[in-house]
Amino acid sequence: MTSPLVVAIDGPSGSGKSSTSRGVAERLKLAYLDTGAMYRAMTWALLEQGVDLSDADAVAVAAEKVTLESGIDPQDPTIHVDGTDVAEPIRSEEVTGSVSLVAAVPRVREILVDLQRSTIASSAGIVVEGRDIGSTVAPDAPVKIYLVADPAARAARRAAETGAVDATATQEALARRDEIDSTRATSPLAKPDGAVVVDSTYLTLDEVIDAIVSIVDTATAG
Ligand code: DC
Repeated sequence: MTSPLVVAIDGPSGSGKSSTSRGVAERLKLAYLDTGAMYRAMTWALLEQGVDLSDADAVAVAAEKVTLESGIDPQDPTIHVDGTDVAEPIRSEEVTGSVSLVAAVPRVREILVDLQRSTIASSAGIVVEGRDIGSTVAPDAPVKIYLVADPAARAARRAAETGAVDATATQEALARRDEIDSTRATSPLAKPDGAVVVDSTYLTLDEVIDAIVSIVDTATAG
């Protein structure tokens, strides 16, 4: 059996990863997995249970009992925790402000990486977005993209998404999250070996999708 085509798209928050990854998956008729949504859903579940997120041992123990399900249709990606649809609450400020703490716990990463790998293996081909896809989750992916953008452009996009009025505060919050994500001991955010860097600062969404689709076409030709 041949392994499914995996397009790994990593990069910091606000680089346009989600819209880009969904667009690439739709254009190439592939499935789509948002691994950030899984870390957010885990965070939501632990907050609901009142787990002290600064206690890594308590987080690791509680994480074992959470059941996550990710729908992989790029036109309708879904995420459920123990059967509850959490697509909306995982975007709350409370979750956004706490998710880096949960994502830094090694046991949480093991649990979610296992789940991500089995989702990838059971797909016929998939675009997977996150921070450690090309480095840890799918290091053999034939296509690896590292999507970046200037901090000001990233903050402006995030503010437009969330309706935040203070772009400076948004940029500071993004910088804090980048700092935690890039300096954690397990699978820090970094450009994976063999990844092609795509800078979305001055490109429209369609232009970024075009660029990645042509990278995939070249990598899979012949
Ligand atoms: O992409 P996002 O903003 O929804 O990601 C939420 C958080 O999860 C972010 O702080 C980084 C973390 N994350 C991670 O550590 N590894 C991944 N593969 C995806 C996200």
